[in-house]
Amino acid sequence: MSVVSYQLEGDIGIIRLNNPPVNALSHALRLGIQDAVAQAQNDASLALVLICQGRTFIAGADISEFGKAPMLPSLPGLLDIIEASTKPIIAAIHGTALGGGLETALACHYRCALSSAKVGLPEVKLGLLPGAGGTQRVPRLAGVKAAVDLITTGTPISATKALNIGLIDKMLEGDLLSGALDFAKEVIAQGAVLKKVSDIDVDKTGISADFFTECRAHLSKRFRQQQAPQRIVECIEASISKSFEEGLKVERRLFVECMQSTQSAALRHLFFAERLSSKIKGLAKDTPLKDIKRVGIIGGGTMGGGIAMNFVNVGIPVTLLEINDQALQRGKDIIAKNYATTVKKGKLTTALAVQRQALITGTTDYNDLADMDLVIEAVFENLAIKKQVFAKLDSVCKPGAILASNTSYQDVNLIAESTSRPQDVIGLHFFSPANVMKLLEIVRGDKTSEQVLATSMVMAKTIKKIPALSRVCYGFIGNRMLRQYAREAQLCLLEGSTPEAIDTVMQNFGMAMGPLAVGDLAGIDIGYKAREGLTDVEKGDVRTYCIADALYEMGRLGQKTGAGYYRYDAQTRQRIADPIVLEVIEAQAKQRGVERKAINDDTILARLTFALINEGFKILEEGIAQRASDIDVVYAFGYGFPAFRGGPMFYAESLGLEKIYQTICQFGETYGEEFWQPASLLKQLVAEGKTLTEWTNR
Ligand code: 3HC
Ligand code: NAI
Repeated sequence: MSVVSYQLEGDIGIIRLNNPPVNALSHALRLGIQDAVAQAQNDASLALVLICQGRTFIAGADISEFGKAPMLPSLPGLLDIIEASTKPIIAAIHGTALGGGLETALACHYRCALSSAKVGLPEVKLGLLPGAGGTQRVPRLAGVKAAVDLITTGTPISATKALNIGLIDKMLEGDLLSGALDFAKEVIAQGAVLKKVSDIDVDKTGISADFFTECRAHLSKRFRQQQAPQRIVECIEASISKSFEEGLKVERRLFVECMQSTQSAALRHLFFAERLSSKIKGLAKDTPLKDIKRVGIIGGGTMGGGIAMNFVNVGIPVTLLEINDQALQRGKDIIAKNYATTVKKGKLTTALAVQRQALITGTTDYNDLADMDLVIEAVFENLAIKKQVFAKLDSVCKPGAILASNTSYQDVNLIAESTSRPQDVIGLHFFSPANVMKLLEIVRGDKTSEQVLATSMVMAKTIKKIPALSRVCYGFIGNRMLRQYAREAQLCLLEGSTPEAIDTVMQNFGMAMGPLAVGDLAGIDIGYKAREGLTDVEKGDVRTYCIADALYEMGRLGQKTGAGYYRYDAQTRQRIADPIVLEVIEAQAKQRGVERKAINDDTILARLTFALINEGFKILEEGIAQRASDIDVVYAFGYGFPAFRGGPMFYAESLGLEKIYQTICQFGETYGEEFWQPASLLKQLVAEGKTLTEWTNR
């Protein structure tokens, strides 16, 4: 079936696009539109309507074609043809008109949209800029400031806002096609004027001489090290200093530059990785799903409260169980505080916040969980307690209910053994703050059923999380890798560095926060308590935690006690380097016989990131993660790894596996092979001269 059809209805030609799932502008679609516009030039039509079938208007250029040999017509070439049509073309928008999709609509002579539609230019999120006239047409219609806002954030706006700023001409309700046909009739009645956006002059009023300099400074702070936002400003600046045609040339040149950048390759990799991570290898597409209509949560602490919010935010009622009324009230208070913060930020109305909290019922009685479809346990990180909770759940929950644990480290198989239904037990590892963080690690026990797995993947999407599948191991994908990264941060401290130096290196690399600042935020007690349950062998080398333990024993637990690796200003909560910490480090180094020497930034970076990467390879070779890109998803969405570097495994490929392997071998000689054993898979790929992508697709 053709992806584009053309049909004359009275004196209006209808160009229908049908390229599921999102009408991306593939080569076939571009060709089809070109042919339809050509055909319409010679028939009895007086105006044309461009409309899409399926769930959305055009969602953009076809990202899967990027990096391949270009095929004509190019998108800019097609948009020239559309704008040059001798009959007005009206874009009829529903769903989301994004990127090249919105640019197509802007090249049309008129735009109408359903009030539920959204429009946006999200190219920046792919390390790109709108490459088909978006940077030149948006300022002409909506003004320079609105253009900078729309294009540098990449956040879609509602049809109402688009109407207000002039991006669309008419808002419609009800049936899109009949509304668009009526609008086309109006256009014809008014003389079928060809309103070309390229003919408009950009309104320069209110744009001060230093407007663009300020934009650049603001964006370099907001999107540290990212190229695309800066290039976007350059294009918009060209829209006022140059003609439309010259502006387009600037846009094209900078678009190609961005497209060839590693940053864009990394962000495009993550776009597809995010979508791939919800697919479970070997699982039939039609695996039956369970209905999740009622959710129970056990433990209303830091995690339980946030997890509850995810469900009630999408209208799924939650029963929250705590050990006693006092703990229950504390949990509810945390939730209320979180909602109050969201309301204060203007992201939610008070009425909605109240409505959502009303969906949470508190209890201290397990019998109230009898009818739940899914129960998520978020009690203390202690295997014995978790096993007791699951045994209890086994006795009260209806058959077929999914029983999940939010454990960070415990063995999901052992937890499952405490029930008579291990097939219904799974790990659902949320990240803190659970109502904010996008990642959900889904931990597959040896006996977890396919139905429970498939349902959990869909449930993750329902609550707007990005799922990634892990098999059982200590710490699963994310925390297992993090342990190695933290190990190197601790060793660098002991051997000669400082918290400020390490955190600065990692922040400059693009991490949301450095490892020691994160330690202070999460609480130094968390790691200490986790180690309490471990044997000396499990704890590993004392040098990897002696500084943390010393700080804990001084009562320096991090931000919550006003001091940890740093001191925190009581008012501003700003972190301040603390000479006492250096004394602690030096004392520990002396006690362990370590001679402290300066460590340069490159070495710090390599030690921390290569430790992460090497463990990633081990996780892959053991089959803990399904694919390298899932590890990237875990790190980009759960651990603040810079998206523009594509995640640790993509970063490894972009550096070259050989270089990483050689450096790890060299680190083994310098810092000890007990820490630096290259993963067998890494060694194998280097020996075979293969990439991770080739190995994944083997
Ligand atoms: N190109 C190719 N494939 C695309 C695509 C695109 N632009 N947009 C989505 N897809 C694919 C996805 O990979 C996914 O494939 P899969 O089913 O095989 O996993 C499928 O379409 C459905 O996508 P989602 O799962 O994301 O569906 P949702 O309904 O959740 O979201 C959406 C729909 C909001 C349109 C979302 O897919 C999206 O944001 N897409 C990207 C939009 C975008 O970035 N557009 C700009 C592209 S760059 C551009 O246009 C350059 C131009 O300026 C020259
Ligand atoms: P928390 O200590 O803040 O909350 C635990 C809650 O569970 C407390 O309110 C306690 O009263 C309640 N509880 C304890 N035993 C119970 C029982 N038998 N029945 C009902 N309620 C009980 O702990 P937090 O941080 O919320 O952690 C919970 C789980 O989530 C742990 O397994 C932890 O490893 C995991 N986790 C924690 C993260 C974090 O950053 N805090 C991140 C991801 C997972």
